[in-house]
Amino acid sequence: MDIVTSITCLYRESNWKEIVHRYHDHPDRNKVLWVYPSEGNFEFIKACVKELLCDRVVSVGCGSGLLEWMIMEATGLPVSGIEVDGAWWRCKYAPPTFIPLHFTPAEIDKDTITLLQRNTHTALLFCYFNNRPAFEDYLKYYKGNVLIIIGPHQKGVHTDPQPFNDVSEDWVLHKSQEIRSSGDFIAVYTKQSVETHSI
Ligand SMILES: C[S@@+](CC[C@H](N)C(=O)[O-])C[C@H]1O[C@@H](n2cnc3c(N)ncnc32)[C@H](O)[C@@H]1O
Repeated sequence: MDIVTSITCLYRESNWKEIVHRYHDHPDRNKVLWVYPSEGNFEFIKACVKELLCDRVVSVGCGSGLLEWMIMEATGLPVSGIEVDGAWWRCKYAPPTFIPLHFTPAEIDKDTITLLQRNTHTALLFCYFNNRPAFEDYLKYYKGNVLIIIGPHQKGVHTDPQPFNDVSEDWVLHKSQEIRSSGDFIAVYTKQSVETHSI
């Protein structure tokens, strides 16, 4: 059985643990997802999101939504996924999708802004995102204080943003954790509160 079919079967059985166990270093894993966090990594995400008082995650550029589905299963947190390019994801050659995707045009539309701004207790996630202008745009509309970037660190793979030293000074690194020993990292940032001084 090929990896996509096998993951789809395990998904139907709600067996996310077997998905990460069996496929985290499979050569074809990127057909459905770029990173396969361990159970400990999911615990880390849950702990960070909770300690930073968020109760929901919005993931931008979620691709198939497999990571987002696994976060929901592993942590109990609701996760929404935003994707650009609805035409590709609806075509018959596209990989399967594991959550309902919210499609946005390249220029963020009103519905997407509503999703981003539904409440301020929302953590914003980018996993292996590769579009800096869009990243800046999403941050402009996002009103919450928790940003999670998952991606490669010094392993010769390009993402934009990268997990470290790639965000503006408003964002302070809260905690980070490597995904197994893959060279991929989960970096959790919080927004500096802007102090107003009277003259
Ligand atoms: C390298 S893929 C990563 C997919 C998934 N997060 C993963 O880790 O497997 C980057 C994704 O970002 C999406 N993307 C690029 N620009 C976007 C935008 N403006 N809004 C939403 N998604 C976007 C692409 O369509 C693509 O699915």
